[in-house]
Amino acid sequence: MTKSPTVRLLLGLLITLIAIAAFSSYSLYQLNGLRRLQTDTIDANRHDSLLLIRIQNDVSTIGLRLRDMMQAPASRSIARFQAGFTGLEEDLMQALALETALHPSTRSAEEQAKLLSSVRRFWSTADLVFETASRGQEREARAIATAELFPRRSDLAANVSHLLEANNLSEAGADTKIARIYEGAQQDIYAFLTATILAILGTSLYLIYSNRKMFDQIESLSSQRRVLAAKLISVQEEVLRSVSRELHDEFGQILTAVGAMLARAEKKGIPADSPLRTELSEVREITHATLEKIRSLSQMLHPAVIDDYGLARALEWYTEVFERQSGLRTRLTIHGDPVRITGQTAIHCFRIAQEALTNAAKHSGSDHAAVELLFSTDSLHINIQDFGRGMAQGKKPDRRGLGLIAMRERAELLNGTLELTSAPNAGTTVSLYIPLRRDEAAPERMLAGGEEQEVLSARS
Ligand SMILES: Nc1ncnc2c1ncn2[C@@H]1O[C@H](COP(=O)(O)OP(=O)(O)OP(=O)(O)O)[C@@H](O)[C@H]1O
Ligand SMILES: [Mg+2]
Repeated sequence: MTKSPTVRLLLGLLITLIAIAAFSSYSLYQLNGLRRLQTDTIDANRHDSLLLIRIQNDVSTIGLRLRDMMQAPASRSIARFQAGFTGLEEDLMQALALETALHPSTRSAEEQAKLLSSVRRFWSTADLVFETASRGQEREARAIATAELFPRRSDLAANVSHLLEANNLSEAGADTKIARIYEGAQQDIYAFLTATILAILGTSLYLIYSNRKMFDQIESLSSQRRVLAAKLISVQEEVLRSVSRELHDEFGQILTAVGAMLARAEKKGIPADSPLRTELSEVREITHATLEKIRSLSQMLHPAVIDDYGLARALEWYTEVFERQSGLRTRLTIHGDPVRITGQTAIHCFRIAQEALTNAAKHSGSDHAAVELLFSTDSLHINIQDFGRGMAQGKKPDRRGLGLIAMRERAELLNGTLELTSAPNAGTTVSLYIPLRRDEAAPERMLAGGEEQEVLSARS
């Protein structure tokens, strides 16, 4: 017995589902990484770079103001320029506070501290310059500005430029990383699609293979069953035929001989009023009745009329006997040109009609039935119809009979088709259709009317 493919198919489905779940989780993880890279590095960097550009602008403006201050005539005190720097200092410090709060995670604490200290150093030097100038020490103030304030501004500008460059570098690095992730994800998708297509292909091929195997097995079992059914039916027919012959030939002969001996004994000088003569006469009548019963039984088991006169005559005989025995009025009608059908074909058709009529008597509750034979040039149609309660619809029978199964088997052996039509209280019709062909190798005669007829036999 071949194992069912269900377990393997379920396993395949489970593996596919696990692979899909794993791939989906991995893709989500990659997407989250991508999002983090986008917000933590690129967005933060861009925001920080904007603030650094603002600081750089302030530092450039400071440079211009410093130049103007230094180029002013000596008669004009540089303390008067202080107001021009206050607004710039406020804006720069505000931008610096925002920048410190938002600086990117890639920047080190030393770098940040360096920026803050360069800003602080510049403003403390600037304060010193303006304080000195406001005390009237103009020359000293100008000397401090030249020696310290300018270098501090340059230092601050260099620091800001360095940080801007670092931001650009880390953004370029993040871009490369993102491109790598996209490339990796694309390759993963291709690999996953290929694996999924291969898995689907494998499962489908396995399904096709196991289906084919199963169909082959069903086919072989079905042909084994057909052979077995045919054997069973032929053995059954053989047994019935031999029992029928035994009954007719052996017991029939014996009872005929016993009857003749009894008739002779009656005539051998036994007085007419003798009780022995009366008893002998009774025994002879019983013997005669038994002989009739045995002949009738023998005919029922295997009607000799089938072999001698063919199917149509056998059904004619049987419908009469059946009506007498079952009490069901049975009418036989023949359409077309009747031809003599004998052999296995006739036996199978006869048994199907016999079973259908027996079912009508047993199950239909009808008081009449009809058998119809329709002969055409290449086929025979037999309808057996009753007018009773019909077959129970959709309900499982209490007991499984063999009659309908055997009818179908016989129809199959004849290469024919058998159809059952039934409706509640509208009776049941059994329709048998068999193809026939001319068989010139075995010509036979239709004895009815003594005329020679065409002989047809089943295409089985
Ligand atoms: N002409 C009919 N009218 C109503 N019911 C029918 C008729 N023929 C068959 N059936 C229903 O179909 C069932 C199956 O019939 P089938 O000939 O296979 O078995 P059975 O007659 O019960 O037993 P078996 O034929 O083996 O002696 C019957 O039991 C009966 O319920
Ligand atoms: Mg039956």
